[in-house]
Amino acid sequence: MGITDLYPPQEEAVKSGVLEGKNLVLAIPTASGKTMVAELCALKHVMERRGKALYLVPLKALASEKYEDFKKFNKIGLRVILSTGDFDTLDPTLGRYDIIIATNEKADSIFRHKPAWINSLTLLVVDEIHLLGDGSRGPTLEAVMTRFRLLNPKAQILALSATISNADEMAGWLGAQLVTSDWRPVPLMEGVYFHESVMFSDGQNKKVEGVETDPVARLAVDVIKSGGQMLVFAASRLSSTSLAKRMETPVRNLLKGSEEKKLLELSSRILKMGERTRISNKLAKAVSNGVAFHHAGLTYEQRKAVEDAFRSFLVKVICATPTLAAGVNLPARRVLIYDYRRYEAGLGQSNIPVLEEKQMAGRAGRPKYDKEGQAIILARSEEERDFLLEQYVLAKPEKVWSKLGNASSLRSHILAAISMGLACSQEGVFDFLERSFCSYQYGINSFKGAILESLDMLTSEGMVKSEGKDLLPTPLGRRVAELYIDPKSAVILKNGLKIRRSGVPAIGYLTLICHTPDMPKLYIRRKELEELKAFLESNCDLFLYDLPQDEGFDYEMLLTEVKTSLLIKDWIDELPEDAIVERFDVGSGDIYAYVESAKWLVHSAHELAKLMGYPESMKPLLDLNVRIENGVKEELLQLISLKGVGRVRARALFSAGYKGIDDLKRASPTELGRIPTLGPETIRSIKEQVGGSVTKEEWSMVKSRSGTKQSSMDDYG
Ligand SMILES: Nc1ncnc2c1ncn2[C@@H]1O[C@H](COP(=O)(O)OP(=O)(O)OP(=O)(O)O)[C@@H](O)[C@H]1O
Ligand SMILES: [Mg+2]
Repeated sequence: MGITDLYPPQEEAVKSGVLEGKNLVLAIPTASGKTMVAELCALKHVMERRGKALYLVPLKALASEKYEDFKKFNKIGLRVILSTGDFDTLDPTLGRYDIIIATNEKADSIFRHKPAWINSLTLLVVDEIHLLGDGSRGPTLEAVMTRFRLLNPKAQILALSATISNADEMAGWLGAQLVTSDWRPVPLMEGVYFHESVMFSDGQNKKVEGVETDPVARLAVDVIKSGGQMLVFAASRLSSTSLAKRMETPVRNLLKGSEEKKLLELSSRILKMGERTRISNKLAKAVSNGVAFHHAGLTYEQRKAVEDAFRSFLVKVICATPTLAAGVNLPARRVLIYDYRRYEAGLGQSNIPVLEEKQMAGRAGRPKYDKEGQAIILARSEEERDFLLEQYVLAKPEKVWSKLGNASSLRSHILAAISMGLACSQEGVFDFLERSFCSYQYGINSFKGAILESLDMLTSEGMVKSEGKDLLPTPLGRRVAELYIDPKSAVILKNGLKIRRSGVPAIGYLTLICHTPDMPKLYIRRKELEELKAFLESNCDLFLYDLPQDEGFDYEMLLTEVKTSLLIKDWIDELPEDAIVERFDVGSGDIYAYVESAKWLVHSAHELAKLMGYPESMKPLLDLNVRIENGVKEELLQLISLKGVGRVRARALFSAGYKGIDDLKRASPTELGRIPTLGPETIRSIKEQVGGSVTKEEWSMVKSRSGTKQSSMDDYG
């Protein structure tokens, strides 16, 4: 791999006994090579102990980066897999791999199916373990770790983070060695920009040369001229997009001819990725100028293209939301933190945590790419500069505090523990949770009330039943745990399905799934209020749950749910992506994310209908799931079932008069050839799938267009 020496903290990690199987919390700076310690450790397990490793990361994007890192071991015979896909399906082949890389949530869902190979895992790596303190996602990570240690107490645990100030506490919890250090392979200078100069943490005030009056442009041009690149962190998508636009002219002026050509190619490639929208147009334009924005509204493919182009030094500046803040290796010699304040629902504008600022800063100066890095926060006044120096540059990250101890986080994990047989009584549940970080930090008594509240809810909703002192999962409880939905979502779905079993229109089911806590929700803009209220009033009989009586908090929540269900409705009514982008102020990436959640919840509703014996609801839910997956109207259901036929081709076939499989059986290849989106290969594949007779002449026409072989033609002769 071209690595000749261990970095000092890596050496310390080895000396701590991590390669002999000792648990370790490795709390060392960003870019100090934590991944390689995990790699060495995984190699030891697989090659010397016939073991197996699971590597957990918080984000899908980071999971792919780690997968790329680990894939190099294929060459020496290790089998590495990135586990993605639906929550309720268990890939039966996973057990054959030596190293499995997964997001925390995916691992949680896998464990709930109790695959036999859990016991053959000998190493658990938890990357970015500071996520444990995150209000929404921390409890899942904590529950996964707690459960894993109970299921597999002998397995080694390696926890990694650059930004955890109470690493000793974490190590105490895990019974782990602790290695901390301040050493970074590439020096990182941290400072605050104000009035054309950067004040660094060591007190130096350095002028940034240049003619640009826009501070962002000045910092960008300066670093590009010295052969580096810049990553800008903005607080919102809007801000990241407008910053990128601001950088177009200054960056374009620095491009070489050869770069311009390649950027134009990339730009037209971006336009061809998926459906064209106003966002992809903007991105393509920015990229043609050597700049990009990067946020969750982009599709995965677009984000990857931007990251790759930055890695190959084509795109010089990326303006990103914090989606790029943790773990990634990018050639950013300079990181600029443009906003340190961010709008948070319920909180208004607030300062971001130091932990997050340090993660962003840590993207600068990565060993593969740069000899030094700079992380700069933008100040708008002298006072603000001093404040930022104090508050962020010279500050240490906050402590990580467990967020597991409340009923809304606990119910799902308690159900999982009972359903997996890890706790079989109230005492058992306490014993189980006594092993959590929450209990380590606060003591079990501090959240006993929340545990009992969760148990009450699970029992009264029929997911857990008590027999004497025993607590047992009911078939419903077990299925809910596997479906990986919040028990509260299950209650909402179950009650909704009970209300009406037949004749429910799609929007009835959609508003129901959007009513569950598992469905992410769209924000509402003031101008949309009237339209949503009107929709609600004229459709109130369609809802499968009670509507709030007055216009309080619940009513506002309801409007966000309605708006979200209307987005999915537009999608299954085949509105073009750009129309949805405009109407809901989202990006294609968001559409896919909402679609994914909706699919999972409709699937869950279907499974619950099956369990409760509501066959009338099952077919409509199954059909709805296919419609959501493909974004099509009901009339395309038959056509969409064909391989190679997506929503665009299905619509083209339908418009040309081929409404179902029988029509296609009768259709000649020549006729199908007249439909614009269908190439000879697709026609061949369609005819192969639907059967029906095709004359020799017709087939040779298709053959001559597609150049296929004689042998397959004979099948249809
Ligand atoms: N001993 C070494 N010699 C040279 N390069 C190394 C060494 N160890 C790691 N690297 C390189 O250092 C880079 C950063 O490593 P890595 O991504 O593991 O950082 P990290 O500690 O996980 O940082 P972060 O906290 O930001 O995730 C990688 O490109 C890696 O290949
Ligand atoms: Mg890392």
